[in-house]
Amino acid sequence: MGMGYERAAPYYDLFGAKDDGAFLAALLSRTGGPALVVGAGTAREALPLAAAGEEVVAVDRSEAMLAVAADKTAARRLGGRLRLLRADARDFSLRRRFPLVVALNLFAHFVEEGEASAALRNFRVHLAPGGRLLLNVETPAWRPPDPPVEESRELGDGRRLRRTVKYRPTRRPHVYAIELWFDVLHGDLLLDRILERDEVRLFRPDEVRQLAATAGLRVDEVYADFASAPLQDSSPEAVFVFK
Ligand SMILES: C[S@@+](CC[C@H](N)C(=O)[O-])C[C@H]1O[C@@H](n2cnc3c(N)ncnc32)[C@H](O)[C@@H]1O
Repeated sequence: MGMGYERAAPYYDLFGAKDDGAFLAALLSRTGGPALVVGAGTAREALPLAAAGEEVVAVDRSEAMLAVAADKTAARRLGGRLRLLRADARDFSLRRRFPLVVALNLFAHFVEEGEASAALRNFRVHLAPGGRLLLNVETPAWRPPDPPVEESRELGDGRRLRRTVKYRPTRRPHVYAIELWFDVLHGDLLLDRILERDEVRLFRPDEVRQLAATAGLRVDEVYADFASAPLQDSSPEAVFVFK
């Protein structure tokens, strides 16, 4: 299915602040670089790695997300250390190995059978001996927010951006249809409306372990979140470090 980032990419960074920065920095201090960031999007997590002095290769399949990443990289003058590459997580080939491979908020997009395992095999190919792979998933304990979450951001010129996220179960287990509505408003006047649709998938932690094992990866650490809380059956998210 076509991915829901192309038109809304300029708005991605306005929403959904993440709390994975300290965890990633601590992991980097153990592994060192260079780092490979897959599903890098707007370079949200790739830029701090480059700012920390590491060489970073950031891979994403969305041209629009990479365009935002390129602007941010240039603005921060990190172009010498951060390379952006448009490719699919499952089959890019850099012919080199990295001590740190990062795939944050990517696995939800591996909806089709075999996509997650293909990506894991490819990550394994790009992982240096002794290196670490960091990834997270939403688990089947995750529930869509009800009612749908509506958030607004001021755009600074009198306009306001309102994002509404709606999830709908599909016939396929663990797969949700997702709609992201981006409304550009001036007062009550609707100036523009972008709808991005997609499907997202939840992964059982033991399923991730199994797929990773088949790809030749072993669990080093597993948590319920980036504050390193212990993983439980009721945890809506799982954070894995593989070796
Ligand atoms: C939710 S965003 C996460 C971006 C970034 N990792 C972050 O945490 O902010 C998911 C990103 O994965 C990318 N993506 C989805 N499927 C992909 C695939 N098969 N190969 C490469 N990138 C993919 C999308 O284009 C999007 O930029």
